[in-house]
Amino acid sequence: METPFGRSHGQPKTTTIVLTLILLTLLFLTIIPVFYPSLGYPFFLLKALSPKPSPTTAYQPELQTPIKITAGEDCDIFSGKWVPNHNAPYYTNTTCWAIHEHQNCMKYGRPDTNFMKWKWKPEGCELPILNPAQFLEIVRGKSLAFIGDSVSRNQMQSLICLLSRLEYPKDVSQTKDESFKRWIYPSYNFTMAFFSTPHLVKAEERDPNGPTHTGLFNLYLDEFDERWTTQIEEFDYLIISGGHWFDRPMVFYENHHIVGGHYCLIENVTDLTKFYGLRKAFRTTFRAINSLENFKGVTILRTFAPSHFENGVWNQGGNCVRRKPFERNETTLDGDSLEFYMIQIEEFESAKRDGRKKGKRYRLMDTTQASLLRPDGHPSRYGHWPHENVTLYNDCVHWCLPGPIDTWNDFLLHILKMEGVRSHQERLYSGGERTGFK
Ligand SMILES: *[C@@H]1O[C@H](CO)[C@@H](O)[C@H](O)[C@H]1NC(C)=O
Ligand SMILES: *[C@@H]1O[C@H](CO)[C@@H](O)[C@H](O)[C@H]1NC(C)=O
Ligand SMILES: *[C@@H]1O[C@H](CO)[C@@H](O)[C@H](O)[C@H]1NC(C)=O
Ligand SMILES: *[C@@H]1O[C@H](CO)[C@@H](O)[C@H](O)[C@H]1NC(C)=O
Ligand SMILES: *[C@@H]1O[C@H](CO)[C@@H](O)[C@H](O)[C@H]1NC(C)=O
Repeated sequence: METPFGRSHGQPKTTTIVLTLILLTLLFLTIIPVFYPSLGYPFFLLKALSPKPSPTTAYQPELQTPIKITAGEDCDIFSGKWVPNHNAPYYTNTTCWAIHEHQNCMKYGRPDTNFMKWKWKPEGCELPILNPAQFLEIVRGKSLAFIGDSVSRNQMQSLICLLSRLEYPKDVSQTKDESFKRWIYPSYNFTMAFFSTPHLVKAEERDPNGPTHTGLFNLYLDEFDERWTTQIEEFDYLIISGGHWFDRPMVFYENHHIVGGHYCLIENVTDLTKFYGLRKAFRTTFRAINSLENFKGVTILRTFAPSHFENGVWNQGGNCVRRKPFERNETTLDGDSLEFYMIQIEEFESAKRDGRKKGKRYRLMDTTQASLLRPDGHPSRYGHWPHENVTLYNDCVHWCLPGPIDTWNDFLLHILKMEGVRSHQERLYSGGERTGFK
């Protein structure tokens, strides 16, 4: 099934849930900036939630030294706005063959092209458009794995297209299964892989139909999905992401026993919510990585990218028909998307603390705000022919190529560039105890 998506069966938000969320949020916002002052923390969240940002949390561009070359460590590249870019796009569906059918929006008659012509402008610095030569030089002799659902594959295909101005990769997949791809860039000996694992942990379809006719899944929340966890030890970079599949009905197992579910409608199975499942899945994912003795790479969390259905849920007329980005003041991260985001950040920070002792490196690719501001970037009904009977008729989850998701790879290049600097600093802070560190 193509779509990482299912009907949203959010529990009616009780006061308790809301209060807990608010408390957690406040706690989170209070603690994080204090303990992680240099994290490049998502300031947009603070702004979105507090009417008057306090001096300690507000971003103050006038205090920054003007940065012309590129974003420095003191600039939060994930906080900003979209500005017109007349030079975009940098590839088309005729120059790049890697665009997945359902994201080839021009092929299916999308009438407008302005959605391709924007560039992310962080507050206080510039984020350069990905330079393929620079990217491939940095990753020469290295390997990168995308681990997640079809949105993760969407980003990989954007990367292939962005790099295609210089070189196309060779398909060296070890299987015919499209869920596990492996590519190599011959001139650079750069390996790229995709591991399809929509739930990140061990999972199986229990019932292809299920309460919502979108499948009911068994999730083994404390068990690794060994199809990828056994394959990643030699990789230099992992990009982990997930979220949309947790909207579907699930049965949760822990220690081989059913502990609950999310809208599974099975007698005597407690509804623990999708948030419970998402949190445990990310916890187990990071535990898998931290447990890999020989893994010396960098783990990058690519945070949740909200969908943009309006005027209904996905199968009840919901659609995304906007034709330009939101201004920052036009929308705010809330509801399930905010909770998914917070859970990912919390589990990430916790894994990073545990991993530090073992010399594991974690980085954040916070695509949430940039993506939230792009309701215009999805295929909508241009992901297939009008007469085609597809599950997700109006796709407001994936991203047209070319499109806003190309910016995620601008973020990626920035992270790779900063890596040398950061690793050096961390070695200093940790007192050089990590001898096996590369
Ligand atoms: C590319 O898009 C054009 C419309 O801009 C469409 O006519 C064509 O079929 C597409 N080509 C491919 C290879 O997808
Ligand atoms: C290519 O890179 C891999 C690591 O990703 C390395 O093991 C191998 O020796 C390299 N091959 C060549 C020909 O440089
Ligand atoms: C559900 O729990 C009740 C009360 O403990 C029990 O009588 C019933 O058999 C259970 N149903 C199933 C399907 O396990
Ligand atoms: C949002 O900000 C823009 C300028 O950045 C302004 O023109 C617009 O009026 C604002 N909209 C709202 C709803 O405050
Ligand atoms: C679309 O496909 C589904 C499942 O394959 C089927 O139940 C439904 O009747 C089809 N609808 C149309 C309009 O063909």
